[in-house]
Amino acid sequence: MTTQQQQQHHTSGTGFGAHSTADDVLAGIDLSHTTALVTGGYSGLGLETTLALTRAGAHVIVPARRPAAAEEALRGVTGAEVHALDLADLESVRAFSADFLDTGRTLDLIINGAGIMACPETRVGPGWEAHFAINHLGHFALTNHLRPALAEGARVVSVASSGHFLSDVRWNDLHFRDGYDRWLAYAQSKTANALFAVHLDTLGAAGGLHAFAVHPGSILTPLQRHIPLDEQLAQGWITPDGTPAAGFKTPAQGAATAVWAATSPLLDGHGGAYCQDCAIAEPAHTDDMLIGGVKPWAVDREAASRLWQLSTELTGLDLFT
Ligand SMILES: NC(=O)c1ccc[n+]([C@@H]2O[C@H](COP(=O)([O-])OP(=O)(O)OC[C@H]3O[C@@H](n4cnc5c(N)ncnc54)[C@H](OP(=O)(O)O)[C@@H]3O)[C@@H](O)[C@H]2O)c1
Repeated sequence: MTTQQQQQHHTSGTGFGAHSTADDVLAGIDLSHTTALVTGGYSGLGLETTLALTRAGAHVIVPARRPAAAEEALRGVTGAEVHALDLADLESVRAFSADFLDTGRTLDLIINGAGIMACPETRVGPGWEAHFAINHLGHFALTNHLRPALAEGARVVSVASSGHFLSDVRWNDLHFRDGYDRWLAYAQSKTANALFAVHLDTLGAAGGLHAFAVHPGSILTPLQRHIPLDEQLAQGWITPDGTPAAGFKTPAQGAATAVWAATSPLLDGHGGAYCQDCAIAEPAHTDDMLIGGVKPWAVDREAASRLWQLSTELTGLDLFT
C-alpha cells in the first residue's frame, strides 16, 4: 500500500483532534525512559513540545541557535538540556552531533521542528537558499549524523506545514537563482520536510526506525516575525485587535500533532505518513491551507527518493543507505 493510499484509509478515530493539546496527547503516557531531541525546542511550538515531553518524564535535548535564549526559556524546566547548534552551518551540525555521540547516549525520538518562514532572501553555506538549507538540509544532516545514536524503534518527526501547498521541490531552480519568492521558498522547504519523512521511513523501516511528517495547524508564534501586522491582517491570520483569527490554534494545541506522531501506537505500520490534527491527513481537496490535508507531491515516493539523493550530494552525508 502506498503512503497516499494509507492517507485515504486512516483519517480519524484517534481520540484526539484539532483542539487537543500536547498534554492531552501525553496524558497517562510515561516517557521517563525516553530521550528526545527537539530542534527549536525553546520557542513557539517547539517550546510547548519540550515542556509537554518533560512533564511526561522525558529527557529532552534542545539544540539552540541562541543557547542563552534557550536557557532563559527553559529555566527551571527539569529534564531539558541546551546545546549550541546552528542548522544553517553544517560544521555546527557536525560538531553538535559528534559531541552528542561522544556521550554514548541513545535517542528514542527526534522532532525536527526548527524553522524559518518567509524571510528576505538569504544565502547560507555555499550560496544555498536559507529556507531549504535550514528547514531541510540542516535537519537532513543532523538526522544523518545522529543515526548511530538512534535506538531500536526510534521515531523521527518532521515538522512540515500546509505551506507545502504552494510549491513542489523546484528541481530545476532549488536555490532561486532565477528570482526569489519568500513564500515559495518556505513552501519548497516544507514539501522537502514531508518528503524527508517518506524516504527516511523507507530507509529506516528495516532497522525499526520510523519517520512521520506533521502539519501543526496555524498558530501565532515568533515564526511570523518577518510578516508585517498589516499583511497578517490581510491574510486573515489576526483580527483588527491583534488576536488570532478563528481556526488558529494555541501553541499547546499546535504541539499536539508532533507529540502524537512521536508516541501514538496508532501510527504503527503507517511510517512516512503526513499527519494533521492528531491523525493521518487526508489528501487535500482544497487549496485552503487552514483546512489543510496533503498535496500529492509531498508524499510522492519517487520524489522523496530523488530529494534524498540530492540532499546526499549537497551535504556529502548518507548514513542510512
Ligand atoms: N506557527 C505556525 O502557524 C506553523 C504552521 C505550520 C508549520 N509550522 C512549523 O513549525 C515549526 C516551528 O515553528 P514555530 O511556529 O514554533 O516558530 P518559532 O517560534 O519561530 O520557532 C522556530 C525555532 O527554530 C529555530 N531556528 C531558526 N533558525 C535556526 C537555525 N539556523 N538553527 C537552529 N535553529 C533555528 C528558532 O531559533 P531562534 O529563536 O533562535 O531563531 C526557533 O527556536 C517550523 O518548522 C514551522 O515551519 C508552524
